[in-house]
Amino acid sequence: MAVPRTDVLHDFVCISNRLPVDRVLDADGVPEWRTSPGGLVTAMEPVMRENGGVWLGWPGVPDETFDPFTEGGIDLVPVTLSAQDIEEFYEGFSNDTIWPLYHDVIASPAYHREWWISYQRVNQRFAETAAAIAAPEATVWVHDYQLQLVPRILRSLRPDLTIGFFNHIPFPAYGLFSQLPWRKQIINGVLGADVIGFQRPADAGNFQRSVRRLMGYETKSARIMEPQSDGTFRQILAKSFPISIDSAGFEELARRPDVQARAAEIRQQLGEHKTIMLGVDRLDYTKGIRHRLKAFSELLCEGRLTVENATLVQVASPSRERVETYRLLRDEIELTVGRLNGDYGTIADTAVHYLHHGYPREEMAALYLAADIMLVTALRDGMNLVAKEYVATRFDRRGVLILSEFAGASDELKQALLVNPHDIEGLKDTVMQAVTMSVSEQERRMRYLRKRVALHDVARWSRSFLSALDEFPALRQPAPTDPEDVQRYE
Ligand code: F6P
Repeated sequence: MAVPRTDVLHDFVCISNRLPVDRVLDADGVPEWRTSPGGLVTAMEPVMRENGGVWLGWPGVPDETFDPFTEGGIDLVPVTLSAQDIEEFYEGFSNDTIWPLYHDVIASPAYHREWWISYQRVNQRFAETAAAIAAPEATVWVHDYQLQLVPRILRSLRPDLTIGFFNHIPFPAYGLFSQLPWRKQIINGVLGADVIGFQRPADAGNFQRSVRRLMGYETKSARIMEPQSDGTFRQILAKSFPISIDSAGFEELARRPDVQARAAEIRQQLGEHKTIMLGVDRLDYTKGIRHRLKAFSELLCEGRLTVENATLVQVASPSRERVETYRLLRDEIELTVGRLNGDYGTIADTAVHYLHHGYPREEMAALYLAADIMLVTALRDGMNLVAKEYVATRFDRRGVLILSEFAGASDELKQALLVNPHDIEGLKDTVMQAVTMSVSEQERRMRYLRKRVALHDVARWSRSFLSALDEFPALRQPAPTDPEDVQRYE
């Protein structure tokens, strides 16, 4: 396995499981780099372009070793994963143990000791690679649930570093988290960081509760006091930093004439006069795609909607396709879509346009512009950046966002139509409320939503996390006694 160059040291290192680009084969079988799926990449790409530094992660294929390279203006250091690592660390422990556990066990988590061994091994590799390329006293920002052991390993390898950790997905209540056979090791791993970020205050609260229950450490508001062997305490900051998007960038994209022309074309192809509803998700059981289809199909069945006046476009980008739960979900969704179209479609009108692809940002912006109603019905979601992308794109102040109260975005986007996706009757009524909403009401809500998303953009998110990390050396000292200092981090 290749070791990245260690002759160049970096002051800022970002680590995530996946690089922002995946190695894929194009239509002619020629390898190329393509933007990776998911919210983490959407958020961190503009941050890295702005801040510089180096991004360390897996290039998305097994057993292939690449030298460090630059793509889209970002310096990348690939970390190789073997086929066995992918099966046990990525598909296994990360996505069949931690992912369902942290999403309120919507699917059952599987606990396998060999997956845990692999998780430790791969986390060690990421940490060692980062330790080798970080300059003295550099800042290292570790991302997400795949790498929860990295902060502690990194701290032991390089005590000079300032280490941040951000959890992009929810952190579960103690009653669920405590199922995990390796719960103490995970908490201890994350606590290697100086600043730990979560999406929602509730996630930070759940984490702190686990720290108190499992480690017996004292917490003072956002601060965790970790006892040291010399009798002093190391302080760790654990609080919410709700992530966002490059709002201005999305609006700019939406204002481009080619994107607007494409939006008009989509509308025309789907039917000018129709209400166009849109869902955009990775094909994941946390996203509530089944609930959305059920509500839509009942509305058609009851005649409250017809295929002549409404259509649903569902973009479901392929994800984690070798994990059994995802395979079963895909079968179920595709069976449901097939039935729905068979039952309600006509030669002229299709009920559901199901697209099992990922699309470039331009196409997504055009779809957002074309859609009258955006459906985000996640059963549990750290944030859901699709909701924010829809809002940022709608510079015309039209459109209605239906948003699950179980998505982190609902803390901020209160002028959306908030729903409990488990309540199918409630969801159906909300869809009808959106269908019949007046233009002035759409504009009133969209104006508020857009203000929020424009102000709280991804640059502000990264600034607030990185400045907490920057100021942190003060917190590394023994606990402050000055009340003003204490207050700053409450
Ligand atoms: O935060 C959720 C997340 O796991 C991110 O790490 C990533 O952006 C996305 O989902 C995609 O997941 P995967 O890397 O498994 O395709």
